[in-house]
Amino acid sequence: MNSHAQPSRQRPREVTLRFLAEPTDVNFGGKVHGGAVMKWIDQAGYACAVGWSGYYCVTVYVGGIRFHKPIFIGQIVEVNAKVIHTGTSSMHITIDVSATDPRTGGRKTTTSCLIVFVAVDGGGDTVPVPSWLPETEEDKRLEQHAKQMAKVRKEQDEEMLIAASVEQ
Ligand SMILES: CC(C)(COP(=O)(O)OP(=O)(O)OC[C@H]1O[C@@H](n2cnc3c(N)ncnc32)[C@H](O)[C@@H]1OP(=O)(O)O)[C@@H](O)C(=O)NCCC(=O)NCCS
Repeated sequence: MNSHAQPSRQRPREVTLRFLAEPTDVNFGGKVHGGAVMKWIDQAGYACAVGWSGYYCVTVYVGGIRFHKPIFIGQIVEVNAKVIHTGTSSMHITIDVSATDPRTGGRKTTTSCLIVFVAVDGGGDTVPVPSWLPETEEDKRLEQHAKQMAKVRKEQDEEMLIAASVEQ
């Protein structure tokens, strides 16, 4: 693999999808299906990763998903995706989903998670992405969070390997 691609200030770090929750998104309880929310998260993360890297990207990890509040049909959904850490080929993206009642303007955060995309070329091989460097205190905190989550994942993977070897 080559070294990192050059950072570019023109690249959009953030993407927000905005649309109405439709009757086709409903679950058996009359609210928006969790699977529909996960699809929107993946779509927003994908658009953000492609915009940042300039390459086709694939999801390698989705985690820490938390459904804080339900989304109702007819609410305006906003799915915000923001790069908070880059590796060699990976982009760690935080996702925040919110829903607004158009009648009252009342808005609430409904879902959040972390998603990791990897940029790949036409042959499916990983390619380097432009480095993202945090500048504000908030961005430094978010990048630290992404690094901490990567450490936790590594420990979890090692624990699962140990568990698998004990079971055999
Ligand atoms: C993406 C893919 C080509 C990478 O291949 P790979 O052999 O895992 O490559 P690497 O081990 O070099 O890892 C590539 C990057 O992914 C990251 N990565 C791999 N597994 C990860 C995981 N579970 N969580 C977070 N990041 C992960 C690595 O840390 C590395 O990041 P870096 O380049 O910034 O250091 C391969 O994993 C793949 O095709 N996965 C399936 C993707 C897919 O089908 N997604 C669903 C549909 S889009």
